Order: sequence, then structure tokens, then C-alpha cells
Amino acid sequence: AVTVDGGAALGHTRKMAKKLQYVCTACAASSPKWAGQCDACGAWNSIVEEKPLSEGSSSKSIGSKRGGQVELTDLSTNEAPPPRTMSGMEELDRVLGGGLVPSSAILVGGDPGIGKSTVLLQAAAQFASQGLKTIYISGEEASAQVRMRAQRLGLKDAPVKLGAETNLRNILTTLEAEKPQLAIIDSIQTMWVDTVDSAPGSVSQVRAAAHELTSFAKRKGVSVILVGHVTKDGQIAGPRVVEHMVDTVLYFEGERGHQFRILRAVKNRFGPADEIGVFEMTGAGLQEVRNPSALFLSERGEPSPGSVVFSGIEGTRPVLVEFQALVAPSPHSQPRRTVVGWDSSRLAMILAVLEARVGIPFAGLDVYLNVAGGIKVTEPAADLAVAAALLSAREDAALPKDTVVFGEISLSGALRSVSQTENRLKEAQKLGFSTAIMPKGDKAPSTAGLTAKRYDDLTAFVGDIFGAG
Ligand code: TYD
Ligand code: MG
Repeated sequence: AVTVDGGAALGHTRKMAKKLQYVCTACAASSPKWAGQCDACGAWNSIVEEKPLSEGSSSKSIGSKRGGQVELTDLSTNEAPPPRTMSGMEELDRVLGGGLVPSSAILVGGDPGIGKSTVLLQAAAQFASQGLKTIYISGEEASAQVRMRAQRLGLKDAPVKLGAETNLRNILTTLEAEKPQLAIIDSIQTMWVDTVDSAPGSVSQVRAAAHELTSFAKRKGVSVILVGHVTKDGQIAGPRVVEHMVDTVLYFEGERGHQFRILRAVKNRFGPADEIGVFEMTGAGLQEVRNPSALFLSERGEPSPGSVVFSGIEGTRPVLVEFQALVAPSPHSQPRRTVVGWDSSRLAMILAVLEARVGIPFAGLDVYLNVAGGIKVTEPAADLAVAAALLSAREDAALPKDTVVFGEISLSGALRSVSQTENRLKEAQKLGFSTAIMPKGDKAPSTAGLTAKRYDDLTAFVGDIFGAG
């Protein structure tokens, strides 16, 4: 490896080595040599060779030349928060933290084909009809293609201005002349800055383009929305490369086979992160889903072993989802642990707690865990629902009808209380559930028609629900 403080004799070699640099296209970490897997983010085949942006500049100190003094203020303010514009698409407005903030930079990431262009064209039309001057620049499709999509979505009369261009200099000149309030750039990977000497889609191009656009947004008071494809092959930089430059990062998730799409805020300088908006992909574009719990539970039949309904919170909103587990004797010496929609290391932890604290082993058994509907659950509050699904599958015994479950499990096997109990219970009651299995530490429901079964630890829960276990 190249050390930073080598002797003077190394100076020359160091300069030579600087000419080449290896950059991860998934997370933008740089390293002096190529590797099959990125040390920083663990992505495979994501490291490519790139010229450093400014050669040698990183080793120069700032020197003794004095700069201007920065004006300092105190923290109090009389300024009102900036007025936000609501699109009228409730699911989008909530994820943005309550509408669009002027001069903000937003990144919308997601797999190719998931529906980013569709949702943003719909959003553009909505914002435009709220009176926001909106420009949509497509670097991927010809204008005619975008117009055809607009027609299909019933948006052809929306007052959105459309352009097809990839040269960023031309785009900035256009934006400067047109003075829109919102500019949508689809996608950041197709943009091309003529001062940067590498191919469009490379880490340096994507970074430079995002930097130009976000600083333009701040300088000129334009909100910009950048589309970023999540990339698999590593030749093209992914959206994570620009996450730190923008105010808000949204990811559009979902599975190709499912019609549900979830817009999730993972970073938001203007609102809560972890907020989600739920959409359904239809023949006429994305429809908002106002009652996601009903949607996620819609395919559930009679109570069956391995199926457990979790009363979760996504952002500020309660959402009921179904966990499904399958436990079967394993033909392999190393049993399978397959998880979709939940964290696999968290599953390993719950299996270990069940074994060590309750005495229920899963050795020699394959375990499959799935969250129905293609939604990803990240809350530790789902621990108890996962444990219940695993036990129910293992014992081949369904949970009582109309039961929801929530609670965090500690390594000692104790059940920890969770946040927003009241909201979880209300949602469950609203959807017709009559029993809640929950930690004792949480307040019993004041909601009429809902019975709580509250437990201190996992052993008590297992004894009561599944017999001695
Ligand atoms: P798109 O918005 O082009 O995806 P992205 O910009 O994220 O790459 O969406 C493409 C998919 O959406 C495509 O497979 C077709 C589907 N689709 C519909 O099902 N209904 C529609 O009304 C539209 C416009 C697209
Ligand atoms: Mg697209």
C-alpha cells in the first residue's frame, strides 16, 4: 500500500501512483489498488479505475495565505420556515416531510424499471398544476417517448416543460434562462460534464454533475430532483455516490413481481427519515395507496402455521404486515437461513435467543422467513412477531385468529417495550384484530374491543401460546 508520509525519495513514485486510482462505483470509496470486493461497502465487482479529479492537490497544505473572515451569527432566528409546495400526491408529500422545500436537492434512487420515471412524471404534472414552474429533462428517453408516456398517464395537458439532453452545460444554461422552480433530471448517470475527462456514468462524472446541479439549486433557488439508478454491474456509479450532496434521499423499492411500490425516505434534512409512501403500479401509472395495511394483508386467508401479523410503524404511520415462516428438516449439513424483507443477522439473533434462553433448537432445520407484499421491515419491534412466526411454523400450530404481535427481544430473552404502542393498537383494531401479543412494559390498550396478552419474556410467551415449547 502507498503510505502517506514516505521519505523524500518516495515522492516521485508517489506522484506516478497518483495517476491511477480505483474507485468503488457503489459507495465511491477509493483505494490504491484494484480488488474484487470493495473493503468499504462489501459490493462485488464494483471497483473501477479512474483518474483522480485534481492531481496532487490532496497532498498540498493550505499554506499561510490568509482567507476572508466568515461572518458568524447566533442560533436564534425570526425567519419563518420556507413555504412548501404540496403536490397533492399525499404519499409523496408525506415522504418529502410535508411537501417540496424551495431550493432543495432531492435524490430518487431505485432499480431500473421500478417506476422512477413514471412517478416523477406524475409528480411533475402535479407540481406544475399547483402552479410550480416545472421542467423535466430526460437524458434516457427521447422527448417523443416521454410524451407518449405522459399521454398514457393522462397527463398530456399538464403544464410541464420537457427537454431531452445529457450535456450539463446546456441544461444549466436552459434552466438559467427558463428560471423554473422545479427541475427533474432523469437520470444523473446519463449526465455529462465537459470539464471532466471520463465517461458518463463514471464516479467522477456522476459526482461532478450532481455537484453542479445541487449548487445551482442553492444559488438560483430551484428545487432539483435527481434520478439515480441502483446499478448492479459496477461499470456505472450508483446513487450512493451522491447521497451526501443532497438534502433528501428517497428510494423507490418494490419487487418486479409485485405491483406495490414503496417510496422510502432514508435521509431528509427537512423532515423525518424512514417515512414511506405506498403506491401501486397499474396500467395507468402509479396509484396512491391510502390504506397500506389492508393491501399488505389482502392475500391472507385463514390463520395458518408460520403466519403472523406484525403491527409496525413506518415513519409516522402504523402499517400491518404479515410475516411468513417455513421450518423444515434440512438435507444439508449447513441448514439454510433464507430471509426476504427482514434483516438476516437479526434472524440469526432471534434463533440463538430461542435456543439459548427458551431451549428450542433450530439446528438441523432449514428456516425461511418472508414478509408478504415485498415490503422491507427494519424495526426491532418486529422481533416478537418473527419469533412467533418461527415457533408457529416449527410447532405447526397457527396463532389464534385475529392476533397482532409486536415487541423487541433482548439477548437475555426479555421483551422490551417499543415506541408508539397506542398507534400500533389503533391500527390493529381498525383492521378488525381483537388480540394483541405485546411486551408487559407497554401500556395495555385503552382501545375498546382489543384484548392484550402481555409478557415479560420470551419463555412466558412461548409457554402460554405454544404450551411448554
Ligand atoms: P419506469 O418509470 O420507466 O422505470 P424507471 O424509470 O425506474 O426505470 O417504469 C417502467 C415500468 O413500469 C415498465 O416495466 C412498465 C411499467 N409501467 C406500468 O406498469 N404502467 C404504466 O402506466 C407505466 C408508465 C409504466
Ligand atoms: Mg426511467
